[in-house]
Amino acid sequence: MSKMANDTAETRDAGLAIVVLAAGQGTRMKSAHAKVLHPLGGRPLVCHVLAASAALGAARSVVVVGHQAQAVEAACGSFAVRFALQSEQHGTGHAVRIAAEAELRDFSGDVLILYGDVPLLRSATLQRLVQQHRERGALLSLLTTVVDEPFGYGRIVRDAAGALHGIVEERDASASERLVCEVNPGIYCVRSAFLQRALAGLAPNNAQGELYLTDIVAAAVREGGPVVTEPVDPAEVAGINSRADLAALEALLRAEVIARHMAAGVTFLDPATAYVEASVTIGADTVIGPLVQLRGATSIGRDCRIDGNAFVSDTTLADGVHLRPMVVISEASIGSGAIIGPFAHLRPGAELHQDVHVGNFVEVKKSVIGAGTKANHLAYIGDATIGSASNIGAGTITCNYDGFVKHRTVIGDRVQIGSDSQLVAPVTIGDDAYVATGTTVRHDVEPGALAFNPKPEQRRAGWVEGFRKRKQPERARKG
Ligand code: UD1
Ligand code: CA
Repeated sequence: MSKMANDTAETRDAGLAIVVLAAGQGTRMKSAHAKVLHPLGGRPLVCHVLAASAALGAARSVVVVGHQAQAVEAACGSFAVRFALQSEQHGTGHAVRIAAEAELRDFSGDVLILYGDVPLLRSATLQRLVQQHRERGALLSLLTTVVDEPFGYGRIVRDAAGALHGIVEERDASASERLVCEVNPGIYCVRSAFLQRALAGLAPNNAQGELYLTDIVAAAVREGGPVVTEPVDPAEVAGINSRADLAALEALLRAEVIARHMAAGVTFLDPATAYVEASVTIGADTVIGPLVQLRGATSIGRDCRIDGNAFVSDTTLADGVHLRPMVVISEASIGSGAIIGPFAHLRPGAELHQDVHVGNFVEVKKSVIGAGTKANHLAYIGDATIGSASNIGAGTITCNYDGFVKHRTVIGDRVQIGSDSQLVAPVTIGDDAYVATGTTVRHDVEPGALAFNPKPEQRRAGWVEGFRKRKQPERARKG
């Protein structure tokens, strides 16, 4: 399953509980925000982990929160999880102890423990770990991975024969242990009864003075196991500890999403500068140019062209839409064959029907624009309903705000709004009406009528010569 929002579990597993650790601050992020709230691919790290684990259908899932607990709980809002509060963070073992005391006292199955800062984890890998654990009747099972640069990870300590002894943290490792490249990604499946015992036995005898969850591995070995280790691809279990880690995974995830769209028939002229969130859908034969950001609940139809420098969020594009360069679009919907930009701004509630043209320096907000209507230059269309086949001239403004409340402008079909007109809302302009250039429309215009302001144009012959004479001394004075 993909990492789309809230994967729903296909099967329920009454014998499985999940604990996700998300209480730490993440000192190495140098951030005022809890580490697990930092977004990757547009959503908080912890949500990636919850989405991957949701597919296992565990009987209960507990998220351990602490640093910025409220914000972390809010971020997890769409997942069916409980929370355990670790108000002071004394280590990963301490965190699990709190979860176990609060939520697992009466639970007798297997407990899958995950860290909230390992976002690329796949459901299938977790399923494999749980399955291996059960098939082999293990007391404890864990994923291990081999990396080129093990710095910062807990090392997997084995004897010469390869038998597992335990995990030693970077800061507690001897020089020879630091050379070990098999490391702990922090994903464990543990029999509940053993977990309770092992947690009770943890002690902060280490460089950080914390309770290390990793010490339960040696405890399981001492009890005679079985302890199962399952190999996993290091890319999948890369943890986020710094901004550099975040950027590296963002690039990885981004490349994956784009590769998926390319495989499904979308052309990217420059995949390196396309930013497409995992939630976005794109139809086949759509061509996406450089520097395009597609975010949130955006869905792009088939045969669309997005020339470049576009920011599109939570927007629906029907088939064959052409976004010219430099457009900013959010919470809008655009009908088939529409042409937008360059330099257009479509704001929330912009609903453009088929074949609408919106050109440069046109802003549209909370407005419906009917099929084939054009607003090609310099206009503000706010709180308006416009029919089909109308033409909104350059410089047209719907004056929707009287300083207190917003009012609507209604424009019919086949209406011609002349350039530089102001439509003072609330106002209705009937079908086939014609608003002359430079008109301020304050009253409704009936269908088929001409509206114009009687401003007779005047002439003063020879005026310019006199004007220049009057101005000349002034300019001379000012140098
Ligand atoms: C941990 C492991 C290390 C492993 C690495 C993998 C331990 C002792 N070490 O180290 O072996 O290689 O992860 O990424 O477990 N957390 C809490 N409460 C706490 C402390 C941490 O909830 O008191 C949470 C954090 O929010 C984070 C996760 O646990 O999501 C891991 O904590 P972190 O400090 O990043 O552990 P590492 O030093 O990376
Ligand atoms: Ca970590």
